[in-house]
Amino acid sequence: MENVAMTTKELMALSDTVIMGTYSRFPIVLVKGDGARVWDSEGNEYIDCVAGIAVCSLGHSHPRVVEAIKRQADLLMHVSNFYYIEPQIRFAKLLVEHSFADKAFFCNSGAEANEAAIKLARKFAQDTMEGKKYEIITMENSFHGRTLTTVAATGQTKFQVGFEPLPVGFSYVPFNDIAALEKAVTDKTCAVMVEPIQGEGGIRIPGRDYLKGVRKICDDRGILLIFDEVQVGMGRTGTLFAYEESGIEPDIMTLAKAIGNGFPMGAMLATDRVAAAFTPGSHASTFGGNPLAMAAGIAVMETMFQDGILEQCRETGAYFIDKLKELKDRHPIVEDVRGRGLIIGMELSCDGGDLVRKAMARGILMICAGGNVLRFVPSLTISKEDVDSVIEVLDEVLG
Ligand SMILES: Cc1ncc(COP(=O)(O)O)c(C=O)c1O
Repeated sequence: MENVAMTTKELMALSDTVIMGTYSRFPIVLVKGDGARVWDSEGNEYIDCVAGIAVCSLGHSHPRVVEAIKRQADLLMHVSNFYYIEPQIRFAKLLVEHSFADKAFFCNSGAEANEAAIKLARKFAQDTMEGKKYEIITMENSFHGRTLTTVAATGQTKFQVGFEPLPVGFSYVPFNDIAALEKAVTDKTCAVMVEPIQGEGGIRIPGRDYLKGVRKICDDRGILLIFDEVQVGMGRTGTLFAYEESGIEPDIMTLAKAIGNGFPMGAMLATDRVAAAFTPGSHASTFGGNPLAMAAGIAVMETMFQDGILEQCRETGAYFIDKLKELKDRHPIVEDVRGRGLIIGMELSCDGGDLVRKAMARGILMICAGGNVLRFVPSLTISKEDVDSVIEVLDEVLG
């Protein structure tokens, strides 16, 4: 195909003819990003409260991440996991040094990280638990990905309809309900899988002691606890990992989104006791732990610590939430404002789609979670001035 410049309209029309219709897209083409801002092909500037859905936590095209990828691309882009990969070893060391985990497995997305976690839990159960245990309890309104198995793990039928028969081995209980979880554990259960804060399900934060209660049930019944931190991990909540707030640790944790700040990758972390169930040949990924991705991951983590990103996230997050609560007091359509760090939801009494479109026309990008919840997951480096601009536009469109 000739590489001639196309107008925005032509690009969008071509997209509809050559790309499968799995997304309903907003009618702009984003071509450039810098920090918390992006620009479209017509030159319009936006404050980005989406950040690629909680991915670009250090801001778009962060210079240190860009530089690390460029340097690694010059040196070595890809080799097989049949060989030792230096940046992979260094990134794994950083992850385990700063988490509960002892070992990492690398893959390419959140769904793949969850697939790996599910496989590890089943293998661990086969190797060490008595009886045939393979069932995993997940939560209603959860979201774990779009592969067949992670769709089955996801406690929302809207993602499952049309793809039956689904892989077996999952049951669902209401989120934030310890009694329901306790009742649901059977002699076939090998693990519980939960998001410490539900993202796609509407930015739902469980009660103070919920995760402690989940941990206790898992310990009492001798089953594993898996945290899906694909959306909340790597600084989003103001701590490096969301579980740190709960005072307990999982046996397995999955990560993706922000760990590469835009370079696609996923990771599944586990304790030594559980990771021992994976032996050569148990699981693999051609691209998992690829040198380029690992170079990006190292740059992300080093920047998180060196630039005080977590502190910044906590401070700006608290400021953002306060300002949104002021809007709630003025606009009866707002039912609730909740969040931690810079994952924030504003629940409305109606669908939020129209507001999202109106805000976009005024230079603010945001998306919904679960239809009626406006979701704010900007770069953790967003300035208070940008937050003020977001609030100003919201005030106008809510009115
Ligand atoms: C909690 C959670 N788990 C898993 C996924 C799936 O991640 P991916 O789209 O990278 O496969 C997502 C994506 O939004 C998520 O929020």
